[in-house]
Amino acid sequence: MPDAKVKIALELNGEPVEVAFAPHKTLLEVLREDAGLTGTKHGCELGECGTCTVLLDATPVLSCLVLGLACAAPNTAVSSGNAAPARCCSTEHPCCPAWCSASPVPGAA
Ligand code: FES
Repeated sequence: MPDAKVKIALELNGEPVEVAFAPHKTLLEVLREDAGLTGTKHGCELGECGTCTVLLDATPVLSCLVLGLACAAPNTAVSSGNAAPARCCSTEHPCCPAWCSASPVPGAA
């Protein structure tokens, strides 16, 4: 199978970047393997644990369940929690994993 890749431009943690990746990859795989942002953690990879949560255009998503191609729309912004475990803005959000309440984001409501 050829190593066909797509290349998209997006805003990643506030910086404009271009990332090339195989089109079948999840956003989690793209962030970790192609963008080098290993702060985005993988856990169950089944959409159950929330460890991989990132903000996609300010909306929390489970990056293990979203294709990287979801970021192909113009002006897409992803916040990944670079170099730190993905954390939530609120420990009461349904996407917030149980461990997050032990170390909430400072100043979060
Ligand atoms: S890795 Fe568990 S929900 Fe994504």
